[in-house]
Amino acid sequence: MKKVFIKSYGCQMNVYDGQRMADVLAKEGYAETAEQSDADLVILNTCHIREKAVDKVYSELGRVREGKELRALQGKDTRIVVAGCVAQAEGAEIQRRQTAVDLVVGPQSYHRLPDLLTRSERRKVVDTEFPIEDKFGFLPVPDRSRTRARGVTAFLTVQEGCDKFCSFCVVPYTRGAEVSRPVSKIVAEAQALVAGGVCELTLIGQNVNAYHGEGPDGRPWPLWRLLERLASLDGIRRLRYMTSHPNDMDDGLIRAHGDLPALMPFLHLPVQSGSDAVLDAMNRKHSAAGYRDIIAKVRAVRPDIALSSDFIVGFPGETDADFDATMRLIDDVRYATVFSFKYSPRPGTPASGAAEQIPEAVKSERLAILQARVEEHRQAFNAATIGRRVDVLLERAGRHPGQLSGKSPYLQTVQVETDACHIGDTVSVDILSQTTNTLFGRIVSDKAVASVA
Ligand code: 5AD
Ligand code: SF4
Repeated sequence: MKKVFIKSYGCQMNVYDGQRMADVLAKEGYAETAEQSDADLVILNTCHIREKAVDKVYSELGRVREGKELRALQGKDTRIVVAGCVAQAEGAEIQRRQTAVDLVVGPQSYHRLPDLLTRSERRKVVDTEFPIEDKFGFLPVPDRSRTRARGVTAFLTVQEGCDKFCSFCVVPYTRGAEVSRPVSKIVAEAQALVAGGVCELTLIGQNVNAYHGEGPDGRPWPLWRLLERLASLDGIRRLRYMTSHPNDMDDGLIRAHGDLPALMPFLHLPVQSGSDAVLDAMNRKHSAAGYRDIIAKVRAVRPDIALSSDFIVGFPGETDADFDATMRLIDDVRYATVFSFKYSPRPGTPASGAAEQIPEAVKSERLAILQARVEEHRQAFNAATIGRRVDVLLERAGRHPGQLSGKSPYLQTVQVETDACHIGDTVSVDILSQTTNTLFGRIVSDKAVASVA
């Protein structure tokens, strides 16, 4: 049997796409392997969001090439594929920089992998089209045994692409225009995942709360209606969604955070900066006050909600006062978790040409200050869970025998000791203590609140 090794970088959508590539290739007789040296086919599913992410891909490609040469000495052939957002953005340039690459395929055309692989036997191939046909129509339904092997939580792409054009961001260029999948297709995929033992779904999209896919009534459905529909499916216990834009946080979706028990109390709502001048230059089309209002509305319906955001420091023109405004917003919101980045100029984006680029040293200093503060808040958020009883979905084996690890509703990692409970059980847990990244708790009774069939 032929073997494929797939390595995904970047966001959850790349993880999802990587799995769907494995599904397509399984039909062609490829089994997945975790060992690159065993693989007849190596796929790097790449991320273009920041320069560092791109650099990582090229250095990894150097290693993959060495692996290919070693295998060639043993008489084995290895095909190298670059997929994902670097493939989309750089196309044939990748094969100029690394001649060992056989095929470059963008995020909207990987359903064509079998055909492209055949063509690449004769010559190098690049496919970075945004095809008329929708890739989802050509991807096989996730197979039960492979789904089971991937665990009890799954990502499901419901929306892709972005029309917002934030001035720092490559996504509108690499992922294309905003498209929502129809409700019926999403429900069918969710049911296939449930049949494979999945009980928690994270709906993903670059702009997921702008979802407006066709409903069964032929009309566009907003995200909250899709969430309601999925919550009604047998076997779905937990729902999450990411990533959202503040301007698409409509009242229906906010209400769902109060009304829909399956919708977990966690909201990733990136704001990027707390300064109106910077938000304006970023083309975010909302103010810091507007963002605070949304947070207040969400907290009004779900006071315990865990909040999360992305921040960029050192955006062109960011002054000390702008940065202070970001820090004030962080102190006011008190996030459960935050992802923060130094601004990285991306080719083709408006901000990359801005005159007032911030020196690297200033970016580093601001990032360190920001990260220290959000870490304090994260620890405080976790500490506030100690002494509480929370439901935990057990997802994987723990560090030691007899331990299982899972997630609280707030997406915290929780470790428990148990002989009687299994992966896929939701158990009620008294939280007792914490280390930097993990909470420890005691299962209230060895009877699961819910289990996977
Ligand atoms: N530089 C730094 N961070 C960026 N992000 C997106 N583009 C850039 C960039 N050019 C961050 C944003 C976004 C997250 C996915 O990555 O914070 O929300
Ligand atoms: Fe990276 Fe954005 Fe592409 Fe995801 S969509 S892989 S974050 S560039």
